[in-house]
Amino acid sequence: MEPIKILDNLYWVGAVDYDIRDFHGYLTPRGSTYNAYLIVDEKITLIDSVRHGFESELLSRVSKIVDPKKIDQVVSNHAEMDHSGGLPEIMKYIGSEKPLYASAMGVKNLAGQFKGADINYKTVGANLSLGKDELVFVETRMIHWPDSMFSFLPSKGVLFSQDGFGMHLATPERFDDEVCEAIWGPYALNYFANILTPYTTQISNLIQKVAADGLIPKIKYILPDHGLIWRKDPGRILALYSEWVKQAPKRKAVIVFDTMWHSTEYMARELTDYLAQQGIETRYFSLKNQHRSEVVTECYEAAAILVGTPTINNQHFPSVADFLCYVKSLKMKNKIGASFGSYGWSGEGPKLVQSELQSMGFELPSPEVRIQWVPEEKDLEPLKVLGKTIAEAIKKL
Ligand code: FEO
Repeated sequence: MEPIKILDNLYWVGAVDYDIRDFHGYLTPRGSTYNAYLIVDEKITLIDSVRHGFESELLSRVSKIVDPKKIDQVVSNHAEMDHSGGLPEIMKYIGSEKPLYASAMGVKNLAGQFKGADINYKTVGANLSLGKDELVFVETRMIHWPDSMFSFLPSKGVLFSQDGFGMHLATPERFDDEVCEAIWGPYALNYFANILTPYTTQISNLIQKVAADGLIPKIKYILPDHGLIWRKDPGRILALYSEWVKQAPKRKAVIVFDTMWHSTEYMARELTDYLAQQGIETRYFSLKNQHRSEVVTECYEAAAILVGTPTINNQHFPSVADFLCYVKSLKMKNKIGASFGSYGWSGEGPKLVQSELQSMGFELPSPEVRIQWVPEEKDLEPLKVLGKTIAEAIKKL
């Protein structure tokens, strides 16, 4: 368990979790990392921590630099368990009298998580002395929790950005110049779409403020709490975020559905072809074999999301309800929606989906399309019209 040197007196001392696949309901097909950093100044400072279970990995890496008991202070930029879970054990090991700094909300959240733990919480001020150097704090409320903050080391241009600019990608490499964008790019978008979509307004405001304050040229390194460290080109991930926050729709549609006896599946296939024939980049996903978080990543840049469901006991399909609940929580903007599905006798499913899409603020250019029982070629005309209507609506954007 070796530390990785980033700069003189600054090290990565986190943990790599190659095995995690379910990150509170979000699929992480290539695991994640829990990044933590050690600054060696007159005061030895640990920035962030690791998930519970990885404490010994962190302490082992620190021990190759200094005796972990010599850590003087700890900064917690974000109080979610994947970063805070290791704190009780680490604080106990280094000495419970050592201060643990967090935002005011961070202190409150950590105390709520670790009731009864002997931790010397301190609320950060504007900055914190490291000895010769100092850290400056920037509150980033709701990016993505109320406690979230960034720490900045102005002398070296290092931004500790907690979850911001991260990705769930476990690799032995730590830096952006060691992994090509063709590999990390999809994971960065997947992370943004699934974690940061509800907060695009806050992120956009933050980027604008940082730019207006003239700070962007001063950021030489971005050190997030997950995935790669941006040392070669932090401007690249900043540029991607500046684009992603716009939620600008592309000429793209996502067909997502579940099916009972293949009739809704048949409709989904036909609809996919109709849209593709209209020149729309179209993606096809069955919720039987595709995780909702993967589908959401494809939805992020799509102009339209067309949701297919059968009707079961007067409701839409449970997997479709799960998907819609997830999408609703992400508060996506600028989306066109549509619903379709086959049914036997009552057929409420597509109507319920339509209503859900409406409640999310989606533009609905067409009523739902339902086909009773097993569709035949002659039944497909309304579906063709739906495809054409959606394609036209996308082309108008
Ligand atoms: Fe990586 Fe919001 O925790």
